[in-house]
Amino acid sequence: MKILIVCLGNICRSPLAEGILRDKIEKAKLNWIVDSAGTAGYHIGEAPHRLSQKVAKLNGIDITHQRGRQFVKEDFERFDFIYVMDADNYNDVKRIARQYWNENKIDLILNMSNPNQNLEVPDPWYGTEEGYHKVFAMLSEACEAIIRKYADVPISK
Ligand code: 4NP
Repeated sequence: MKILIVCLGNICRSPLAEGILRDKIEKAKLNWIVDSAGTAGYHIGEAPHRLSQKVAKLNGIDITHQRGRQFVKEDFERFDFIYVMDADNYNDVKRIARQYWNENKIDLILNMSNPNQNLEVPDPWYGTEEGYHKVFAMLSEACEAIIRKYADVPISK
């Protein structure tokens, strides 16, 4: 199973989700791959936002080694599922992916924990540390739901 998590900058939300999901994958002893990317190229090569790093660390997760990259259309071939934070991410991924777009492989990440509600993960970029804690809690629930949904499903080659 290969999962890609996408937000706008790949610096606040998706690096947190990548760290949370990897932590749960390791604890569940699953052989999955997880990565994250941004639809924009503002922060390529950068470490996660200091508050994402701080909130992850407070929850026992180290994301300091992760580095920002931009989503590319070939990610639709490389990954089994792509989870985005909000409708803008969804539309931007669709625009970048062009002929690689596959609606069956992509969803809003909160639809995993809150099915069919199309809820969005708010961007904490302009806010305070409190926003990062709220985002962490939402993403943790969603990642838990991803593990529950796919952990027992045999992976086809
Ligand atoms: P993210 O947050 O999409 O959760 O990484 C943002 C980070 C940076 C910017 C916007 C959103 N920015 O405009 O630089």
